[in-house]
Amino acid sequence: VGEPGLDLFPTAAWNRLYARRGRSSARELLGYGGGQGYWPLRRAIAEYVAASRGVRVTADQVLLNRGAQQAIDQIARVLLRPGDQVWVEDPGYPVARRLFELASAVTVPVPLDRDGLLVDAGSRVAPHAKLAYVAPSHQFPLGSCMPIDRRLALLAWATRADAWVVEDDYDSEFRYPGQPVPSLQGLDRADRVIYVGTFSKTVFPALRLGYLIVPRDLIDRFAALRAAVDHMAPTLEQATLSDFIDEGHFARHLRRMRAAYRERQDALLDGAKRELNGCAVVEPADSGMHAIAWLRRGLDDEQASRRAGERNIEAPALSSYCQRLVLPPALLLGFASVPPRAIPPALRVLRSALDGGR
Ligand SMILES: Cc1ncc(COP(=O)(O)O)c(C=O)c1O
Repeated sequence: VGEPGLDLFPTAAWNRLYARRGRSSARELLGYGGGQGYWPLRRAIAEYVAASRGVRVTADQVLLNRGAQQAIDQIARVLLRPGDQVWVEDPGYPVARRLFELASAVTVPVPLDRDGLLVDAGSRVAPHAKLAYVAPSHQFPLGSCMPIDRRLALLAWATRADAWVVEDDYDSEFRYPGQPVPSLQGLDRADRVIYVGTFSKTVFPALRLGYLIVPRDLIDRFAALRAAVDHMAPTLEQATLSDFIDEGHFARHLRRMRAAYRERQDALLDGAKRELNGCAVVEPADSGMHAIAWLRRGLDDEQASRRAGERNIEAPALSSYCQRLVLPPALLLGFASVPPRAIPPALRVLRSALDGGR
C-alpha cells in the first residue's frame, strides 16, 4: 500500500543529473562530507517545507538521514530512556511502535476518532508520557487529518507534560481537495515538535533519504548520535536530489503524481462500485496513497487479506494495525502504484478472494 507510482518517475532526468554529478568527481562528493547532510540539499529542504508545509525552519535544523525509519530510531535513542511512556496511535504505524519498544520505551496505544489521536484519552491513561508519535496530516492507516483545535490540544499537553511530539509527515504532499494542510510543527511555539520528512513517497523508496527537523537545542544531540552510529547518508544521491529539486523536476513530479493519483483513486472508487458491490464499500481518501475498503459485516479481514495475498493482491487487514481498538472489518487498498487500466481486473481478483471467504 505504501508504494508510490514508480511508473511515473522521471528516470531519464534523474539518471542525467546523477551522471552529471558523477562525472564532476568533486572532492566534496567523494569524501566523508558533513555528517548532517549535503548543505545545498539541507537548504533546499528548508525552503521546500517552509513554503509547502508551513514549517518554521532554517537549514541548520535540517538533519539528513535514510528515511523515516532511521529518523524514528534516532529520536527514540536520543530522547527516550528505558521505561519512558510513548503515546502511539491505535491503529497506527507498526514500524514506529516497534522502534520505540526496541529502545525499551513503553508504548501506550491511544485511540483515534475521525479527527485523529484523542488527546484527552492519552492524557487520562499516560499524562506524563515523554513523547507522542502522530501522523497528523494523514494518519496511517485511517487517513484522518487532525483539525487545528486537536493540534493545539496536543501541543498544549506536550508543553504541560514537558513531552516531545513526533510529527511524521510521510505523504501529505498528496492531498486531493486543495492544498496540503500546514504542519503541526508550524503551530509549535514551545519547541516541542520533531518533524520527520521522507523522500520515499515523493521520489522513490530505494533512495533511502529523509530528514529530521529538530528544535535548535537538540541539533548537537542528534548530530552526536549520527556521528556515532551512521556517519552520513550517501552524498552523490543527496547532490543529485538537490539538483532535482533546484531544477524544478521535484515540483513537476509532485504535480504529476497528484493528478495521476487522483485519477487512480477515481478508477478504484468507480471499479469498486461495480466489482465489489455487496461485499465492500471503498471510502474515498482525501489524501495519501491508499483507500479503505470496509467489508460486509461477518467477513474476517485477516482471512480476506490472506486470501487476496494468495491471489497476488496486497491488501493488508485494518485489524492488523490495531492494538486495542476494535474496528469493523476492512482492507487497505493502495492505488498509487496501479495504473487505472489495471485496477478493474485487480478488483475482480479481490472479489473472488472475498467471495471465497464467505
Ligand atoms: C506512517 C509512515 N511513516 C513513514 C513511512 C516512510 O518510511 P521511510 O521513509 O522509512 O521509507 C511510511 C511508509 O510506508 C509510513 O507508512
